[in-house]
Amino acid sequence: MFIRKAERHELDTIYAIGFDVWGDGLSYEKYVAGCRGSNKYQAGTWYVLIDNDQILSSLIVYQNIFGLKEGCAGIGSVATPNSLRGRGYASDLINSVKKELYINHNVKAIFLHSDIPPKFYQRLGFTTIKGSDCMYISMDTYDFDGSLPAYF
Ligand SMILES: CC(C)(COP(=O)(O)OP(=O)(O)OC[C@H]1O[C@@H](n2cnc3c(N)ncnc32)[C@H](O)[C@@H]1OP(=O)(O)O)[C@@H](O)C(=O)NCCC(=O)NCCS
Repeated sequence: MFIRKAERHELDTIYAIGFDVWGDGLSYEKYVAGCRGSNKYQAGTWYVLIDNDQILSSLIVYQNIFGLKEGCAGIGSVATPNSLRGRGYASDLINSVKKELYINHNVKAIFLHSDIPPKFYQRLGFTTIKGSDCMYISMDTYDFDGSLPAYF
């Protein structure tokens, strides 16, 4: 099991993983068309957790957008295929992407906006920013100034 950036041909598979939660009542075709044309998705970098060529979990990383400052990244659209949930894959992916961003991308803090109760992310070390759905995790050297990135 390892993480890597998603390849272009994997994007539809990644979009399909989120259909049950983010489909918003659309037909599958309309939902995927919306994902393909999404400026937000095009602004980020998708990462996947892979085993035997199968995507076990995916998420998108943003930098230098949505008010994310120098040295900060945002993660979003964390999703695991329905049949594979509850096996620790999203947790593994988030932990591995965190290491990758800290070590190879000069990132000192990672923000997210949680659509689910914060416990899942708290268990991974994220702190809730009071009065918001925003959470972050950082290196010891990072000094959070209280300003929140926009929703992503
Ligand atoms: C949230 C999600 C990514 C977790 O993926 P996963 O691979 O199952 O994650 P893990 O196995 O590492 O962790 C599972 C934990 O997440 C918790 N969790 C998952 N969905 C949850 C939800 N909607 N509300 C609260 N907790 C949730 C589970 O209760 C479980 O906790 P437990 O171990 O105490 O039972 C997956 O459920 C998913 O794809 N959901 C749909 C998309 C989504 O809502 N993404 C989150 C956006 S903020």
